Amino acid sequence: MARLTGRRIVLGITGSISAYKAAEVVRGLIQEEADVRVTMTKEAMHFIGPMTFTALTGHPVAIEQFPSHGQPGEEHIDLTIWADVIAVVPATGNIIGKMANGLADDLLSTVLLACDVPCCLAPAMNFRMLGNPAVQANMDVLRKRGYHIIESAYGPLANGEIGEGRLADPDQIVEAIAILADSRRDLAGRRVLISAGPTVEPIDPVRFITNRSSGKMGFSIARMAAQRGASVTLITGPTNQPDPYGVTVERVKSAEDMHQTVFHHLDGQDAVIMVAAVADYRPKQTADHKIKKGASTLILEMERTRDILKEIAQNKPPVLVGFAVETHEGLQYAKQKLIDKNLDLIVYNDITVEGAGFDADTNIVTLLHRDGREEVLPKQLKIEIADRIMDEVVALLHTQETVLS
Ligand SMILES: Cc1cc2nc3c(=O)[nH]c(=O)nc-3n(C[C@H](O)[C@H](O)[C@H](O)COP(=O)(O)O)c2cc1C
Repeated sequence: MARLTGRRIVLGITGSISAYKAAEVVRGLIQEEADVRVTMTKEAMHFIGPMTFTALTGHPVAIEQFPSHGQPGEEHIDLTIWADVIAVVPATGNIIGKMANGLADDLLSTVLLACDVPCCLAPAMNFRMLGNPAVQANMDVLRKRGYHIIESAYGPLANGEIGEGRLADPDQIVEAIAILADSRRDLAGRRVLISAGPTVEPIDPVRFITNRSSGKMGFSIARMAAQRGASVTLITGPTNQPDPYGVTVERVKSAEDMHQTVFHHLDGQDAVIMVAAVADYRPKQTADHKIKKGASTLILEMERTRDILKEIAQNKPPVLVGFAVETHEGLQYAKQKLIDKNLDLIVYNDITVEGAGFDADTNIVTLLHRDGREEVLPKQLKIEIADRIMDEVVALLHTQETVLS
């Protein structure tokens, strides 16, 4: 699913060494089917040429406040009226200062002064500039006025130094813009807890038992819940998925860690969606030293882990959603799990079917409702399935409120 189909994004580019990364952001936005228009400061053009953005977006790049050719217009107002979201990527210390103080001495700063749509900015500068109290104070002013700051990262900077101030990852910037551009805020004010990924159960200091869960489904659900306005906590076992933008992420290892962390965050959640593939059994003992090769067979004694979903159900949050991943006769098992664990919804998937399963970007699932409804969703991207599941969560929350009132 493209997340920005038909949404109109104005991207303002300023004179940072990381301006070339704006091209990657534009590409990401276009992949999500956004209509993108670019405006650049004159200083930005020292770092990357406008031709790149004209080619990527199919629109001329707006640079001049007072163009020497053609009709003088009010491009600063036209761009603001056209945009659903305005993003400044990268944002220099200079533009941040101008925005905080209401200055408008070129096209981009004038567009920003006229801006009355959601606006985000991704600062990028050397850590010395970022640490300057003036820059920090300006960013505080902008935060208080409702601008969304996509925080810069720690890492290697342009001059080879290491520190804060690196432009956020382009994927994260696209994600942040997608969140701002989604006009559905049907989970605003809601708290959603999601578990994802596998767990890892140690056998000895070098070996462990785990499973094939990639975390992609749970991370997709976290992204969609955040995009629709929820305050999201994601508790994940080991996976290489990056933190979704705007989501509180807790990374855990074993089933026991997962249990503790889930219960630590459980209070006050409106919806709990348990996607993690938590180990059912773990080695009864973890050896202190690496187990040496010896006899021709080795028997590991395993014990049951705690059943997190069942324990949550004993003090059920308003909405509780489970997943059932099976390889045979799973539908029957999933129906039983829905009842046994007192769930509102269970998402069943048979990972033996092509296009479904752990590491794929797509999945084929069946939604099983408490009232007996069964909906088979066609093969689609995990992010699309996540959006569909969030539709159900919104409906369930709404139904419960209607029943209670
Ligand atoms: C090589 C070079 C790299 C620069 N990188 C940055 C940067 O990453 N962040 C920043 O805030 N300023 C940076 N500057 C300084 C800005 O380009 C300068 O403040 C400029 O006036 C910003 O103009 P603008 O905000 O209108 O684009 C850099 C300057 C040079 C010469």
